[in-house]
Amino acid sequence: MTHVKASITGVHGYVPDYVLTNAELEEMVDTNDEWIVSRTGIKERRILKGEGLGSSHMGAEAVKGLLAKTNTQPQEIDLLICATTTPDYVFPCTANLICDMVGIRQIGSFDIQAACSGFLYALTIGSQFVETGKYKKVIVVGADKMSAITDYTDRTTCVLFGDGAGAVLLEADENGYGILDSLIRSDGIGQPYLHQKAGGSRYPPTHETIEKRWHYAYQDGPQVFKFAVKNMADVSAEIMERNGLKGEDVAWLVPHQANRRIIEATANRMGVGINKVMMNIHKYGNTTAATIPLCLWDYESQLHKGDNLVLAAFGGGFTWGSAYVKWAY
Ligand code: UT7
Repeated sequence: MTHVKASITGVHGYVPDYVLTNAELEEMVDTNDEWIVSRTGIKERRILKGEGLGSSHMGAEAVKGLLAKTNTQPQEIDLLICATTTPDYVFPCTANLICDMVGIRQIGSFDIQAACSGFLYALTIGSQFVETGKYKKVIVVGADKMSAITDYTDRTTCVLFGDGAGAVLLEADENGYGILDSLIRSDGIGQPYLHQKAGGSRYPPTHETIEKRWHYAYQDGPQVFKFAVKNMADVSAEIMERNGLKGEDVAWLVPHQANRRIIEATANRMGVGINKVMMNIHKYGNTTAATIPLCLWDYESQLHKGDNLVLAAFGGGFTWGSAYVKWAY
């Protein structure tokens, strides 16, 4: 029996032009470049400006580029999944909007909400449709306009986040390449530490929720940090162990970009040198569901067919996960 896996056959990203530097943030809140760089690794982030532009705009740009570079027509796509925490609307979902913007019609498309682990969740889900043979070409997008839910008077969060999107194409592979394994986890214990208080059905928007600044991302940083370090490292070690991978077998760790110190702790635990870690947090900050595909996009030219990649993420929920990918091109 041939074992079909879903392989990533293309990746593309999009970041907006506007660069929000640490120096500009110093003008907005009581912070400084030294604190931000030493505590997080972030030097600048991109911000989507422009009336009426949401996460779908960035997702659609990433998908358009992906279709062009993989010579794929919109009508060849069988399914599109978008991971986002900052959908354009409560409904319809951002995946529906992206499909419309790039001319993909009459297929299934839906959003996944798993905060910063969203791309890993969506990748795991998308890969199942390819493995079963149900679909031939699946697009997985991670897109977040974090600036839409960032409180630029709160120095503990506003220095962290940025906007961006990335997308991958999944196709069947029978030669041992692709998404060979993945793990997704969640624990609602994380809700108090990382959330947006209002705007959903529990607390719909009112004058009061706006006055209380409840429509912004709230984070208890040190608490999240503790869980993130432990769980991202654990899940990366677990996927290596159950696939018989040692540190030297891993060509690249592709971690969610929330904090350089969390990334370094994960690499340490895996026995992977920092030179084998994809890192772009310094230029994009934390773009939530977009961090992993943006890393793949940035490092695409350095990847070789057969490279073993370990993807790892941790985020709100809490949610976390990892994937073992053998690069296919
Ligand atoms: O992506 C989803 C998951 N999210 C994460 O994984 C993020 C996890 N958490 C973190 O990355 C870190 O906790 C942060 C980067 C958010 C914060 O770093 P920290 O080392 O945990 O700092 P802290 O919150 O303990 O704050 C230390 C000090 C505090 O001052 P006091 O109380 O010691 O006087 C803060 O008020 O730094 C202060 N501080 C700042 N100072 C300058 C907090 N934010 C800032 C700031 N600029 N922007």
